[in-house]
Amino acid sequence: MLDEVLRAADVQAGERVVDATFGNGGYSEAFLQAGAGEVVGLDRDPSVRSRADELADQYDSRFRLVETPFSEMDQHDLPLADVIVFDIGVSSMQIDRAERGFSFQKDGPLDMRMSRSGPTARDAVMKLSESELETVFRVYGEERQARRAAARIVEARQDAEIATTAELVDVIESVIPRSGKIHPATRIFQALRIFVNDELGELYRGLCAAERLLAPGGRLVVVTFHSLEDRIAKQFLRDRAGEFEGGSRYAPAVTQTGPAASFRLPRRSVVKPSRAEEQSNPRARSAKLRMAIRTDAPAHEQDPDWTPAKRALPTLAAIA
Ligand SMILES: C[S@@+](CC[C@H](N)C(=O)[O-])C[C@H]1O[C@@H](n2cnc3c(N)ncnc32)[C@H](O)[C@@H]1O
Repeated sequence: MLDEVLRAADVQAGERVVDATFGNGGYSEAFLQAGAGEVVGLDRDPSVRSRADELADQYDSRFRLVETPFSEMDQHDLPLADVIVFDIGVSSMQIDRAERGFSFQKDGPLDMRMSRSGPTARDAVMKLSESELETVFRVYGEERQARRAAARIVEARQDAEIATTAELVDVIESVIPRSGKIHPATRIFQALRIFVNDELGELYRGLCAAERLLAPGGRLVVVTFHSLEDRIAKQFLRDRAGEFEGGSRYAPAVTQTGPAASFRLPRRSVVKPSRAEEQSNPRARSAKLRMAIRTDAPAHEQDPDWTPAKRALPTLAAIA
């Protein structure tokens, strides 16, 4: 999606860019090459530091990394940004390293944390109750066999600890049948990863933080890889653009029901990857890019009680 991101971000010479998901630095480097005056990369994974140091050496004072969850991007005294980009999800570097525990195809400790703090996927598998595990698998994995998988895990963990990715895969394979090309553990691993990293809560709070950090006229670009994430970006932008029920992007900026629109959605605000990219990169097939332009209205209130689902969800604090 790099070409699409660059087109949507439309970085002008000298502008300030926040790359909210630095990862392997591909986007940051492209913004620097496009003439950005300053790029600040954010990541909560400390292992990106060596790649960030390379960019800082190469581009001198035009690049720096801030190690932080992106939900806190406006708490680091950064100047207002002209462009903020999110490329949501895990990086290939994280998936490829067996010791991070993200991949069901590589045996490693059941970790899955992007940062180095907080409970791991092993803690979730060993400590959540059967009904909490079911909720995690159903909400974050959209797994139809959530109940059976949770019951089987609870049974298996009474006999022996489930501490590695291979051990969890064995348990899952004994209860979820293979369907087509999709590995039975795919959705269970996705669910645990989203839960352990509070990915959906981070996305909502990250978008709110970006709203506060963008300068008027600044561009917000969000690339998501599955429908759970896209729904959050879509609802957030519709809400902020005043596209409430009965309203529309063509309505006056001040709506009758809420604060003034803090974002404006351009005509082509949703972009899918090109067919060529879809063919060469299977991960890109579900990608969606959304872009919006910040108005000069004040940022809306962040909802402290926001949750990604109507039902009660287990919290990380419960297994810390
Ligand atoms: C898909 S990768 C980004 C790849 C990047 N665009 C590139 O060109 O290499 C996502 C990165 O965002 C980081 N990340 C995910 N959620 C985050 C959050 N809430 N706060 C900060 N970083 C986060 C991950 O650690 C990962 O390194």
